[in-house]
Amino acid sequence: MLWKGFLVCAALLALAECKAARSVGHEPRKFPDGFLFGTATASYQIEGAWDKDGKSPNIWDHMTHSDPCLIKDCSNGDVADDSYHLYKRDVEMMRELGIDYYRFSMSWTRLMPTSFSDYINPAGVEFYNNYINEMMKYNITPMVTLYHWDLPQKLQEMGGWTNPNIVDWYADYARTVYSLFGDRVKFWITMNEPNIVCYNGYGDTSMAPRLNLKGVAEYLCAKNLLMAHAKAWHIYDEEFRSTQGGTVSITLSSTWFEPEDKNNEDHVQAAEDSNQFDWGQYAHPIFSESGGFPPEMVKNIGAKSAAQGFARSRLPEFTEEEKAYVRGTSDYFGLNHYSSKLAYRNESAYGYHEAPSFFDDTDTVSYNLEEWKIGESDFVKVTPWGFYNILTKIRKDYNNPSVYITENGFATLGGLEDEDRITYYRSYLAAMLDAIDEGSDIKAYTAWSIMDNFEWMQGYTERFGLYEVDYSDPARPRTPRKSAFVYKEIVRTRTLDFDYEPDTTVMTIDEGH
Ligand SMILES: *[C@@H]1O[C@H](CO)[C@@H](O)[C@H](O)[C@H]1NC(C)=O
Repeated sequence: MLWKGFLVCAALLALAECKAARSVGHEPRKFPDGFLFGTATASYQIEGAWDKDGKSPNIWDHMTHSDPCLIKDCSNGDVADDSYHLYKRDVEMMRELGIDYYRFSMSWTRLMPTSFSDYINPAGVEFYNNYINEMMKYNITPMVTLYHWDLPQKLQEMGGWTNPNIVDWYADYARTVYSLFGDRVKFWITMNEPNIVCYNGYGDTSMAPRLNLKGVAEYLCAKNLLMAHAKAWHIYDEEFRSTQGGTVSITLSSTWFEPEDKNNEDHVQAAEDSNQFDWGQYAHPIFSESGGFPPEMVKNIGAKSAAQGFARSRLPEFTEEEKAYVRGTSDYFGLNHYSSKLAYRNESAYGYHEAPSFFDDTDTVSYNLEEWKIGESDFVKVTPWGFYNILTKIRKDYNNPSVYITENGFATLGGLEDEDRITYYRSYLAAMLDAIDEGSDIKAYTAWSIMDNFEWMQGYTERFGLYEVDYSDPARPRTPRKSAFVYKEIVRTRTLDFDYEPDTTVMTIDEGH
């Protein structure tokens, strides 16, 4: 089989970008001792039971019910994978794969239907206790995301993440969850992908609540969300860490932006600005020496705001005290990464984006190349060199923090013979091993996702699962794809072997799982 990464590599002009791709041959490569493997999901995408046993509506329930055909296939998460009832099958799949840990999220409105800690819903507590205990019975470590985009609708009506009171509302939720489950859960992730929450939800229409208040609301959201995250970290640190002994972190979404022409200073600055706006926005306040929003954002948004006649910068900067409060509030760097873009800035970029807006403030133009596409899917362009580059930049810019890859994966349109997903996983794992070889402290890798699920605005049209879910069947049967067998072998052998061909006739549970 020709490894398609070489085609990706050949399509690039700048040779340095091919480094990660070139170093991959057919020699099997070992993962470091102690390296962990997992898979991930999120509550709204899998649980279903949207109004069962006292759960109240979140912003995704509200949005999909108010506009039933907003989602591409006119679907919603009302039933999804029905994990609320099928959780034992979920754990059985974890055992089949032999994974070390499972990342999932809790639903705020299932646990706290009023949004506040005045009432804890016993049925919600029981569901998560069952899920966790079933995993632990088989030595699968639970990794819990507190917030994966499903804000209580009531809090949204009070301004959601633009209302600074949310720092306390979220902190109360976090404290409640730590005290309910922290005796068993030792890996906490406060927030999943803040940039998607804030940019797509508040500065655009591509995620709930679709406010589209460009150039202002996404930055208010960013600051409040970072303060809420920091408060949840401090609460754990001060009230729970000594007795529970766990870790608390944040997971950032990330696109890697590569300069279109590395020898052009403007393009290099454009790519740097794009990286800083996309993920540095949340990494810099927590992981940098100086704290606060990245200087590129402070400069660009300040200058644009002044030129546009605003009385002050649209970016709500952190005070010195707030910078100190947020800095260092993550026990490791949680990274979600899928793909890359090329970036440039020249005269034609001027006025390219609507103003004011996040993208006008970034002031760059970015795009991907058709050559990066593999298979039928348009969703995830295959650029393993970008994964290597972002891991290297994180090592260099933030003093080599421990990194947990909390999501990485590939979408198809369905089907059990998913060669393209296998190519994607292998090429990205090889790029990650290159970064590890050069000193990046990467501890764990999480495949998104264990099974197909509700892919937000794309509904059930984009499939990210190692297991296929049949949505035409009320029993929601899950069937392993070829990639599930390949991932299982990677986990079993702790080795990346490009030549391994699985026997896909029967999936079994190995001894010890
Ligand atoms: C700006 O750069 C883009 C991408 O390289 C190029 O297509 C375009 O012609 C350039 N425009 C100007 C005005 O230089």
